[in-house]
Amino acid sequence: MPEAVLRQAASEMLDWHGSGMGVMEMSHRGKEFGAICTQTEADIRALLAVPAQFHILFMQGGGLGENAIVPMNLSRGTRADFVITGSWSTKSHKEAQRYCEARVVASNAADGHTGLPDPAGWQLSADASYVHVCTNETINGIEFQQLPDLAALGSKAPLVIDFSSHVASRPVDWSRVGLAFGGAQKNLGPAGLTIVIVRDDLLGHALEICPSAFNYKTVADNQSMYNTPPTWGIYIAGLTFQWLSQQTEGELTGVAAMEARNIAKARLLYDFIDGSDFYANKVDPGCRSRMNIPFFLADESRNEAFLAGAREAGLLQLKGHKSVGGMRASIYNAMPLAGVQALVGYMREFERSRA
Ligand SMILES: Cc1ncc(COP(=O)(O)O)c(C=O)c1O
Repeated sequence: MPEAVLRQAASEMLDWHGSGMGVMEMSHRGKEFGAICTQTEADIRALLAVPAQFHILFMQGGGLGENAIVPMNLSRGTRADFVITGSWSTKSHKEAQRYCEARVVASNAADGHTGLPDPAGWQLSADASYVHVCTNETINGIEFQQLPDLAALGSKAPLVIDFSSHVASRPVDWSRVGLAFGGAQKNLGPAGLTIVIVRDDLLGHALEICPSAFNYKTVADNQSMYNTPPTWGIYIAGLTFQWLSQQTEGELTGVAAMEARNIAKARLLYDFIDGSDFYANKVDPGCRSRMNIPFFLADESRNEAFLAGAREAGLLQLKGHKSVGGMRASIYNAMPLAGVQALVGYMREFERSRA
């Protein structure tokens, strides 16, 4: 989280804008929270340049919830295509099988989820209701550097992207997207808020079994207030959108500035890892994530010492996901370049001291 956002939230915790109450104490139907919600939606629309034909929904259930909610709303019980690129797309595919015929049309499982299957080779169905990709595989450290152009690949299906772990870290080409979803807890705010951005024509096709609170049309028709939305998450995300829109890098502002900053942060760490025999990242350089950088020590018996020294240096949460092992640096939007410099400094010193 950006420190400025946390400080502002702290200062408004007991009394939001002289209203005499904190955001957690407000009715979601009151005028104060209504103003927060409307502003938050306008801010994310401006920040991510979301076109008018897309609805912005504030939901609950997280990324895994959307793995069921998307097929319940979009599949019409027919067929959906999945591109497997790592742990999260694998989970999405598995869950969707409960609601529709979920086909794997490409997979990088054979290379241990270290490269992206070339879109030209995807075996897209002629009649898919949608095509699912996870645009940043948080655990495997793989990111699409460009969204696939399904129309150019001969598919009429809308593209569904799980952008949970890199939302607002780079611009989105909405001309290629039908629906985007993401949990807020990486780049936007606290866990509990899920953002869904969905094109108008994809509403209104939910399966009978879809719970009303998860029916995108119901949620859209009620401005995300069909049931109580995650009010605190929406408020913090709103502060984060304002913080993001104020960020600059040279001439760039907002998400474009974040992208430039994220490229610089990631390059610093990858260049250091690639220049060392002591550390390694196994992902194809063409699809390396700017947000989540898994790396391994050549001598894995040093893992515990590495982590203990890192903790002492104030560098936390570096242990890799249990399914992959090794280390993982998650350098989300709020991580400043100085944080990555400190990590590289520590890694260099750890290597030198073990030479
Ligand atoms: C890309 C991606 N998708 C889905 C999820 C699952 O999200 P949640 O825990 O909010 O259900 C995560 C969580 O880390 C993720 O990184």
